[in-house]
Order: sequence, then C-alpha cells, then structure tokens
Amino acid sequence: MDRRAMVAIIGVSLLTSVGLLMAQGRSRGPGPGGRMGPQGQAGSSMSKPPMGKDEAEKKILAVLDEMDRNDRGGMMNVPVEDGRLLRLLAETTGAKQIVEIGTSNGYSGIWQCLALKATGGKLTTFEIDAQRAALARQNFKKAGVDDIVTLIEGDAHENVAQVKGPVDMCFIDADKEGYSDYLAKLLPKVRPGGLIVAHNITPGMADPKFLAAITTNPDLETIFYTQAGGVSVTLKKRGS
Ligand SMILES: C[S@@+](CC[C@H](N)C(=O)[O-])C[C@H]1O[C@@H](n2cnc3c(N)ncnc32)[C@H](O)[C@@H]1O
Repeated sequence: MDRRAMVAIIGVSLLTSVGLLMAQGRSRGPGPGGRMGPQGQAGSSMSKPPMGKDEAEKKILAVLDEMDRNDRGGMMNVPVEDGRLLRLLAETTGAKQIVEIGTSNGYSGIWQCLALKATGGKLTTFEIDAQRAALARQNFKKAGVDDIVTLIEGDAHENVAQVKGPVDMCFIDADKEGYSDYLAKLLPKVRPGGLIVAHNITPGMADPKFLAAITTNPDLETIFYTQAGGVSVTLKKRGS
C-alpha cells in the first residue's frame, strides 16, 4: 500500500472515531452531564430554545422549563429535544387525538399539549404509578392544559382497550417489553396517515419484537431518530 493511501485510511479512521464519540455524547439522555436544558441544546449547536408565540405558549414553556430544571429526578422524562420533536410531529399531523402510554409526571404530555392547543385536539395518557399520576395532574393544571388531557390511571395493557379511534398519533414510553403489545392494540385504532412514535428505541433497550413489527410490515414506514433518547417514528400508510 502506498504512503498516501495509508495516510487517507488513518485520516478516515480518526474522523470516524471522533464522529462516534460525538454521537455518543449527543445521545446521552437526561441526567448529570447529559441534560439538554432549553438553554443549551446538546443536540445541535445551531439549535435555540423554543420561543412562545403568545402568553399561553409562554406559560406552557415556562412550566416545561421548570420541570426540566427541578423535577426530573426519578421521572424518566424524555430529553428536551425529544419533547420538541413530539410537538412538531403532533402539530404537523394536525393531531386531534393523541394517545400516550407512560405519563410519568406529565412532561412529554405537556410538550404534546403545546401542539394540541393549536390543533384543538386532546391527549389521553396512561400511567400505572399513582404518585406520578398525581404529579402529572398537578403539572397539567399548572401548564393550563388539564382541560384537554384525560389521564387514565392503572395498567395500560388493560386500559388501552378504552381508546376509541381514530387516533392521529400514539406515543409509547412505558414498560419496554410491553411495546409490541401496545402496538398490536393501538395500531388498528390509528388512522391511515397517523403516527406511532416510541421512545428509548436504542440497541439493547428496544424490544426486538417491537422493532420487527415496525420494520417488516409493508403497511408501515419507520425511521429512527437517534439524536437524543432514541425515537422511532412509524407512519401507518394510507390505503392500509
Ligand atoms: C419513561 S417513563 C414516561 C416518561 C414520560 N413519557 C415523560 O417523558 O415525561 C415510563 C412511565 O410508564 C409507566 N408505566 C410502566 N408500565 C406501565 C403500564 N403497564 N401501564 C401504564 N403505565 C406504565 C411508569 O410508571 C413510568 O411512569
């Protein structure tokens, strides 16, 4: 091998290693050193904090900011970037009905409510833990979105049967081994053109059965957004 080829190979290897290290740094979730507060989006140096366009949006964003700074402990909330992604997906699909599995203290739900306030839609969210459900109720009220949220307390595997379609978007962020069951129960209720979004879809964490279900069905189209907490976005194709 001549010297120039050798130098090129070493250069590419170095760049790849640096790229991988940067990607790992970006993909850390919330928590010490990995937190992505609205003031410093780790996802992109080009990103800026979200700006409220009116008093209602500013109030919701202020509650989210406060939760992000003070209430993450043990709540397993999505990183800020994933919250923003949820809002964008919900608003661009004009979602009128969103179903969320895994409310925790309401953080990701409030991000989706930012969109639902604009679309005139509603959120139904499921939580098994009574303490987290109580916190979520408080936070929905504080953010002024309690009028558009129904929180169903208990095991979502059973309670999800209460959902009546058509559902525009589902967000699954609960017991990881339960994702394929949630998908099987919710997919028939999702309207054609609707979305199934799932969290913690990272190698080793994602349920292989769920991954197979969203990537091998010709009626579905799935992409993975790996920047923050690991998100899959699945489209239920029209005509399916
Ligand atoms: C990762 S946290 C959700 C975080 C939330 N989506 C957010 O970003 O603010 C997962 C939540 O799912 C709840 N959960 C786990 N299994 C459940 C089940 N079978 N039914 C309903 N909720 C469940 C847990 O109690 C926990 O609060």
